[in-house]
Amino acid sequence: MTKILIPIETSIGERRVSATPETVKKLKNLGCDVYIEKSAGELSGFKDFSYEENGGIIFTEQDFNPWKEVDIIFCIHCPDYEKLNKLKEGCLIIGLLNPFGNKDLAKLLSDFKLSAIALELLPRISRAQSSDVLSSQANIAGYKSVLLAASELDRYFPMLMTAAGTVQPAKVVVLGGGVAGLQAVATAKRLGALVFVSDIRPAVKEQVESLGAKFINLPEIDENPTESGGYAKAVSTKFLEEQRAILSKHLSEADVAICTAQVLGKKAPILINEKMLENMRPGSVVVDLAVAQGGNCVNTKQNQTVIKNGVKLIGASELPSSVPYHASSLYSKNLISLITPFINNGILNINKNDEIVLGCLISDKGAILQEKVFEIGGSN
Ligand code: NAI
Repeated sequence: MTKILIPIETSIGERRVSATPETVKKLKNLGCDVYIEKSAGELSGFKDFSYEENGGIIFTEQDFNPWKEVDIIFCIHCPDYEKLNKLKEGCLIIGLLNPFGNKDLAKLLSDFKLSAIALELLPRISRAQSSDVLSSQANIAGYKSVLLAASELDRYFPMLMTAAGTVQPAKVVVLGGGVAGLQAVATAKRLGALVFVSDIRPAVKEQVESLGAKFINLPEIDENPTESGGYAKAVSTKFLEEQRAILSKHLSEADVAICTAQVLGKKAPILINEKMLENMRPGSVVVDLAVAQGGNCVNTKQNQTVIKNGVKLIGASELPSSVPYHASSLYSKNLISLITPFINNGILNINKNDEIVLGCLISDKGAILQEKVFEIGGSN
């Protein structure tokens, strides 16, 4: 019988949980025992008794300590040293383990002989879509970023005709039209804004236009931005300079910029520099979702709001956690979808030749499998 542990997330500000009562029931039906740390779901709106009603076992470490017995840990972030030290050899940790450039993580996994799946590395193939936590969480971040911008902005989003005169719609510029960016577009459109989008993948143009937004044309230079495995590749410095020149005018007229542009495993491209920021309207708002990767806008600080020349710069890397009920529901469903093919009658049997496993298994009982990923700025 496979034993799975659901820990309380201890990172500052984290409100999500890696399993809900609904997914605990699914794991029980697969034949697993599920141990949930007391109050683990509290901040996401899931009570201990709901887990118990669905077959989960609530524990406190004082009463009973399943850490050294379990076969799998489902988590949002990697548990700390003290917790990892308690696990038995070969225990499989599945979560957003932040492997890029994280040599400390490689050492811990190796020292404690643990297995680990880093969900950041899930291959972008159709079969993996239902397990893709980056997408489910980015969707939430895109939605929430626009609500945040709207509540911080000094003006309306929609066009309004009032007795006192007509109010023009807000202009929103979305940088990066991936999952988060497209959700930001859809949300801003629903609020009535005029939306413009910049992305280096030409395929995004059609997606953006189908949502009623306008695509900002790419620089006309002798370089074709490319993608690999569903991810954009980094563009040259010259391309970025040209791109910023094109964006400059749009941003000087914008009320809101939502920054979502990223290149997997690399620093995020700077798309708003000091000069562009100086030309933005005082009272306008920049929400930078790429801030944990260095940010698309200069001067944004993680989890802080900084005011620069009257422009509000919001460094928002934790937005999924601010919608914890749905973020946890979707995340935990992603995990169920990932693990289900590998559990038969309660017995865990990970197929290491499976394309999805090959992509994201970073350690097999302490043997580090993707050394390149652990190098600074490395990618797979
Ligand atoms: P992401 O989070 O890696 O990057 C966000 C966006 O930034 C991307 O659209 C990228 O092209 C863009 N970007 C990079 N450099 C830029 C620059 N200099 N200027 C402007 N934009 C820049 O990407 P995300 O959101 O995860 O998705 C990318 C694509 O992968 C989407 O088409 C999505 O539908 C697809 N996808 C496919 C999956 C699957 O098949 N299993 C799962 C998840 C996403």
